Amino acid sequence: MRRVSVFGSTGSVGQNTIDLILRRFEEFEVIALTGGRNVKLLAKQAIALRAKVAVVAHRDLLTDLQDALAGSGVHARAGRDAILEAATNDVDWAMSAVVGFAGLEISLEIAKHSKVLALANKESLVCGGALVQSTCLKTGCLLLPVDSEHSAIFQCIGGMDKSVERIILTASGGPFLNSSMTTMEKATPEQAMAHPNWDMGQRISIDSASMFNKAMEVIETHVLFDVLPDQIEVIVHPQSIIHSMVGFDDGAIMAHLGPPDMRAPIGFALNWPERTELPVERLDFSALGALTFKSPQTDRYPSLLLAQQTMELGGLAGAAFNAAKEAALDMFLAREIGFLDMARLVQVVLGQIDADRNVDVTLEAVLAMNATARELSSQAAREGL
Ligand SMILES: NC(=O)c1ccc[n+]([C@@H]2O[C@H](COP(=O)([O-])OP(=O)(O)OC[C@H]3O[C@@H](n4cnc5c(N)ncnc54)[C@H](OP(=O)(O)O)[C@@H]3O)[C@@H](O)[C@H]2O)c1
Repeated sequence: MRRVSVFGSTGSVGQNTIDLILRRFEEFEVIALTGGRNVKLLAKQAIALRAKVAVVAHRDLLTDLQDALAGSGVHARAGRDAILEAATNDVDWAMSAVVGFAGLEISLEIAKHSKVLALANKESLVCGGALVQSTCLKTGCLLLPVDSEHSAIFQCIGGMDKSVERIILTASGGPFLNSSMTTMEKATPEQAMAHPNWDMGQRISIDSASMFNKAMEVIETHVLFDVLPDQIEVIVHPQSIIHSMVGFDDGAIMAHLGPPDMRAPIGFALNWPERTELPVERLDFSALGALTFKSPQTDRYPSLLLAQQTMELGGLAGAAFNAAKEAALDMFLAREIGFLDMARLVQVVLGQIDADRNVDVTLEAVLAMNATARELSSQAAREGL
C-alpha cells in the first residue's frame, strides 16, 4: 500500500486526484486530505477514502468539520499550522494543489518529508523555485510536475535533458483570443472565467484569459528544466490537444498530445515510473480535424513580456511578480480594476522592487518580498493605473 496525502483535495486538481485514488482505493493508504472552506466535500472525501486526518484551513470551521466527520474515525483538524503539520507526515506521494502563494510552504514541507512531491501549485516554483529544488535535492524527494504543460515537457524530454534546444509551451488563448482590445478592457470576471477547453478553478481560469497563467508556466519552465529564457517559446494552439513540445539539438521535435483532462498529468505523476490505464478519452484523429497555431500578440497578452522581465531580474522577482498578480486578480474580482489593468499593475510593481540577482532565496526573503509587493500593489492601485 502506498501512503498518500492530497493538499487542496477540494479544488479542481484535488478532486481529479481523489477521483483517481478512489478508483484504485485498495492500493493506497490515505494519510491527510486538506481543504480551504469546503467542509462538506472534504468530509465526504475523507470518509470515502478512510483518511487518517482531514484538515480545513480556517479555524472557525473546526466544529463543522468535527460534526461532519462524527463517528467516521477520521481525525478533524483546522488552521494553517495544522495543514503544515499534516505535510510533515512521511508519505510515499503527496499532491500539492492548494491555490496561490499559500501553497509554497506546503510544498516545502512535503519536499522535506515525502518521497514524491506531485506539484500542481505553480506559485511554489515561481516564487521559490530555487528553494523547492534545493530542498528536494537535500532530502531526495522526487519532484514530479503536474501542470499539464510541464508534465508534457517532462515526458517529451524523457531523460535527454542535455540535448534540449528549445521548449514550446502551447496556450489555448483563452476566451478573448479573438476579442477586440476594447472588449478585453471592459471584460468582467464572469466573461474571463469562461475557459473554452479546460474546466479549472476560478483564479487559474482568469489567469488563463490574461495569459498570466502562461507567464507563470514560462517562469516554471525556466526553473524546472534549467533552460534559458530565450529557449522558451509560447505558441497559441486553440484546440489544447498538444500540451507542449520539446525541440532537440538535432532538430527533432517531440510533442505530447491528449484530450484536455487533468487526470492525464495527475495520473502520470501518480503512476510514475509506470504507465497505467487512466480513465481519459482516447484521441480520435479522424474526428479531430485541424490543429492550428498562431503567435501570441504581446499587446493583447502583456503578461508574457512581464514573465521575460521577471526571469531577467531573477532573485526574488518571481515572488514580486506572483504577489502583484495575485493582488491584481483580487482587485479585478472585486471589480476595482479592469481586466487589462492587471498587467499594468504588475508592471508598476516590477519596476519598483529592489531586484538583486544574487540574493539568497530563503523562505523568509520570499515572504518579505511577497508582503512588499502586495503593499506596492495596493499603493499603485490607489494612485491609479
Ligand atoms: N485546475 C487546473 O486544471 C490546474 C492545472 C494546472 C495547475 N493548477 C494549479 O494547481 C493549483 C490548484 O488549482 P485549482 O484550479 O485546483 O484551484 P481551486 O479549484 O481553486 O482549488 C484550490 C484548493 O486550495 C484550497 N485552498 C484555497 N485557499 C487555501 C488556503 N489559504 N489554505 C489552504 N487551502 C486553501 C481550496 O479549498 P476550498 O475549495 O475548500 O476552499 C481548494 O482545495 C493552483 O496553483 C493552480 O495554478 C491547476
